[in-house]
Amino acid sequence: MNLEYAGSENLVVNTDTPPGSKPIVCPTPIIKADRLSYLIWDEVDLNKQEAFLLDFGMKTHQKDQQSLYMRSYGDEPYVYYARQAKKSAFRGLGVSVNSRKDLERLAKKTDKQIEKIQHPGGGEVVRLIDPTGLEVEVCFGIKKVDPIHTRRDALPVNTPNHHPRVNIGQRESLAPSPVLKIGHCVLGSNEIEKTIEWYMTHLGLLATDVLCLEDGSPIIAFLRMDRGGEIADHHTIVIGKGGGEGYMHSAYEVVDVDAVAQGQQYLKMKKRKHYWGMGRHLLGSQVFDYWHDTNGREFEHYTDGDVFTSDRKTEYYPMDPGNIYAWGDDIPASMFKPNTKQVLNIIRGLFKGQFSISWLKKAKKSTSRSPRPWL
Ligand SMILES: [Fe+2]
Repeated sequence: MNLEYAGSENLVVNTDTPPGSKPIVCPTPIIKADRLSYLIWDEVDLNKQEAFLLDFGMKTHQKDQQSLYMRSYGDEPYVYYARQAKKSAFRGLGVSVNSRKDLERLAKKTDKQIEKIQHPGGGEVVRLIDPTGLEVEVCFGIKKVDPIHTRRDALPVNTPNHHPRVNIGQRESLAPSPVLKIGHCVLGSNEIEKTIEWYMTHLGLLATDVLCLEDGSPIIAFLRMDRGGEIADHHTIVIGKGGGEGYMHSAYEVVDVDAVAQGQQYLKMKKRKHYWGMGRHLLGSQVFDYWHDTNGREFEHYTDGDVFTSDRKTEYYPMDPGNIYAWGDDIPASMFKPNTKQVLNIIRGLFKGQFSISWLKKAKKSTSRSPRPWL
């Protein structure tokens, strides 16, 4: 349970109900998904959003009046898919499996059909709806594309005793930071346990780290793909309670710290709206930088994240703003302050029995602590 971070010595944890005293129980999964492939959006203005995503480091794969497909520099045809709509909204996500047998098994167990995908690269899909109403598309056989040439190795770094660069400078051009892959998506759910269980059952996700309230119950769960002995990112789907339902943010991997920083320079030059960073997360260790898209939704650049095999056991920690980041810019004041939409969601949740006053008090107490007590 010990997690050392700035100010953690000031944190008093309830020893009667320590984090994890209400552990997340892993149900038997139907299948094990391999990776997150794309997010699904409704967009009012496809041109505006395309311009932001180009600045953010994606490339346009296909576009017409009704749809926009943006790709990374990797081998999947799209990491972002938007349908033209009257109102912009996050609709869901697509994951991939490595075997058609997985699709067959999932279709049988969920009483769904395997459908042909009508997007670039084709393939087949089983369409599910998660407990919060999001579309979850489980895909197989989407045709890969050729990766786009870009730098894929970290820049050589001189240290006091090691100098890989002699007579050479460290200069990157002012350009969008190439997005190499979609890394994770953070979702809000008023019924966190139910939603975690759903993702574990339908996609085979494992809990890596879980932040808990003082009664030991989960408030944010970092879930990773179960890829057996192969490595998986610290988290691919994150489920949090109290910040509203649906999309919280999504994150895209770039090659190294210089790429995160250079991407920031470029986005600032383009007058895009910066949110938080740079910094390094504690759980997952990613060096991060957060931006707002044209609709005010969070998009994150990250690099140097932790990876795990399926052997790593779940760890539980107290919810505390201090353990969100190891170093970096101070957390924006809005991070744990509910906006109007989130307040309305909490009020609705109270009527539905999804929240209790005592839960809200505990959540407020844990998220109101100063992340850095000396600030
Ligand atoms: Fe993130």
